[in-house]
Amino acid sequence: MPCLILRYGDITRLAIDAIVNAANPALMGGGGVDAMIHQAAGPELLEACLALPEISPGVRCPTGEARITPGFKLPARWVVHTVGPIWRGGHDGETGLLAASYRNAAALALQNGAASLAFPAISCGAYGFPYAAATRVALRTLATCLTEAMAPATLILCPYDSRGAELYHEAAQVEGVPLIEG
Ligand code: APR
Repeated sequence: MPCLILRYGDITRLAIDAIVNAANPALMGGGGVDAMIHQAAGPELLEACLALPEISPGVRCPTGEARITPGFKLPARWVVHTVGPIWRGGHDGETGLLAASYRNAAALALQNGAASLAFPAISCGAYGFPYAAATRVALRTLATCLTEAMAPATLILCPYDSRGAELYHEAAQVEGVPLIEG
């Protein structure tokens, strides 16, 4: 039974098929969850990212798209790198691009045989996307992906803290999306 699960904490500790990294277009690592995933995975992760082709100077993954690498020393088998939008006030297509990040990351994980996939709150840190609005985009998009069988059967939302978990629960009420703690 496909379902959306909420499990807050450090995404690098999840021993599941795949975890999503909130990356930047160069895929060269950075701060936030990107830094923690690279630290936990070890240096081979950066090597694998740099081996991915640049589609334009300094861009290996355009905003809204996704790329996959092994997880190396992570408990997760794969890392699905996606680049969320930088928040510029909400009139620059940010919502659509954030939805595309969730959708493309889920599709890529499924294409590679992942049965479980966890997401951090993409764009809600350095990229400044308002957290509450982002949780509604995430839940709406992933519920549709599950309905259309375009995602691994088990999707986990992994906010870093309990405040994020509360916002996901509030969003699940607003969107009418079943969300179970697990
Ligand atoms: N597990 C789960 N969530 C985490 C973790 C973790 N270990 N570490 C941080 N987070 C949360 C943050 O609290 C935030 O809510 O992930 C969310 C996304 O924040 P960022 O990591 O800053 O990502 P984003 O806002 O998408 O900005 C991406 O920042 O780190 C750089 O290289 C990255 O340039 C890119 C940009």
